[in-house]
Amino acid sequence: MDKVLLQKDGNVAIITINNPKALNALSTEVLQDLEAAVLDVKNDKDIYAVIVTGAGEKSFVAGADIAEMKDKTVEEAAEYGRFGNKVFRDIETLEKPVIAAINGFALGGGNELAMACDIRLAAENAVFGQPEVGLGITPGFGGTQRLARLIPVGLAKEIIYTGRNIKAPKALEIGLVNALYPLEELMPAALKMAKGIAKNAPLAVAASKKAINEGLNQTIDGGIATEVAEFSGCFATEDQKYGMDCFLNKVKEKQFSNK
Ligand code: CAA
Repeated sequence: MDKVLLQKDGNVAIITINNPKALNALSTEVLQDLEAAVLDVKNDKDIYAVIVTGAGEKSFVAGADIAEMKDKTVEEAAEYGRFGNKVFRDIETLEKPVIAAINGFALGGGNELAMACDIRLAAENAVFGQPEVGLGITPGFGGTQRLARLIPVGLAKEIIYTGRNIKAPKALEIGLVNALYPLEELMPAALKMAKGIAKNAPLAVAASKKAINEGLNQTIDGGIATEVAEFSGCFATEDQKYGMDCFLNKVKEKQFSNK
């Protein structure tokens, strides 16, 4: 697994896309290594939050691998699209919060990877876009779906139809990212946020993620039913009893057990 690096810092995992010669483009090999890293994190009971970033100082991910895609047949392109989407959906449905730390270009599959994460923090030098139509294709790893859900649909269409890149301040203005930092402050900020999240009851954070994500694809009544199920399910956990005991006994320093 050398195209994706996996580090662990306490309860936080850092996944780094490591294909710097191609600005961290997502070849099949990179996607396979990313799939393996996500599976590792999923199975690690001690990991409560995840950061995804790109190696180097120039690029988060510059998209799907154009050299690999160029000669694909329709069937091969469908397989590539299905695989990329499967890996991104693994991230989106991971029962742990995922922060994208966007350290440069987030184009095509790079923007799509960032959008599969829960929270996007970016460096001030980051550049976003879906340039696929300029290559004669559509976005292929979820861009047509997630961008149109994340920002106003007219803006999503403008970004996809023009293929124009947008700079970090504009990405912040339209809500594509939550916050911007000087490049050297990006990872410390992402780690601080991840560690802050990891201090809370992991099962409650996971249940909140599930309720939000599933609710977005339901009617308001369906979403509220999902929330009631997730909320009440927390009352079967040790951490709910512990968290409420701590409040009532004025204990400030909590140590949840993830049970
Ligand atoms: N695929 C394959 N190789 C890529 C790549 C990509 N997406 N992006 C960059 N590279 C390679 C370049 O070919 C170049 O390789 P060589 O050194 O061997 O020539 C190397 O990375 C450095 O890139 P540049 O010389 O182009 O660097 P730059 O600073 O001049 O430009 C850039 C940077 C603006 C990001 C430019 O590289 C670029 O436009 N990249 C492609 C972006 C793109 O179109 N992404 C969408 C891909 S399609 C997609 O993602 C489909 C999908 O949804 C699944």
